[in-house]
Amino acid sequence: MRAHRHVVPPLAERSRLVLDEDGLKEWGRELGRATTAPLVITLTGDLGSGKTTLAQAICDGYGVEEEVTSPTYALVHRYAASKSPVYHVDLYRLDNPSQLTNIGWDDIISDHAVVIVEWPERAGSRIPDDHLPIDIDYVSGASDRRLLLAG
Ligand SMILES: Nc1ncnc2c1ncn2[C@@H]1O[C@H](COP(=O)(O)OP(=O)(O)O)[C@@H](O)[C@H]1O
Ligand SMILES: [Mg+2]
Repeated sequence: MRAHRHVVPPLAERSRLVLDEDGLKEWGRELGRATTAPLVITLTGDLGSGKTTLAQAICDGYGVEEEVTSPTYALVHRYAASKSPVYHVDLYRLDNPSQLTNIGWDDIISDHAVVIVEWPERAGSRIPDDHLPIDIDYVSGASDRRLLLAG
């Protein structure tokens, strides 16, 4: 049951930004500072585009004090923060959306938490409609820059 509406911080409502790594991290920290639970944030982009880097910055801004590492093998890591728990999910290794049951997906997305999901396309229709989508793309001819599309 989810009666609450997710609130998207204003800076992420509609953004189209070309950022270097420091800029991307600063944007992510700012997003984390402005985020309130519950919110599902999806991060779409090729391998190495910067999804985990951005997830780490969002966690930092939200108040996660532990080191945030890529959940590539466990698929999900859960962190504590004073505002709410944070789940960092990486679905790269998910073969089928039905496997989401094994990681407790329904409990994760109905928790009063921030949920950051890499490779959300692997979850098919099981991503809630009211999530905040963020896409990260490479910029041709600028290996240190990324195009970030939010909202
Ligand atoms: N502008 C940028 N923003 C984010 N990462 C960048 C940028 N420029 C270079 N990088 C590098 O790209 C890599 C991104 O890796 P990672 O965040 O693990 O990607 P993903 O989780 O999408 O596979 C890191 O090695 C990082 O240093
Ligand atoms: Mg990653």
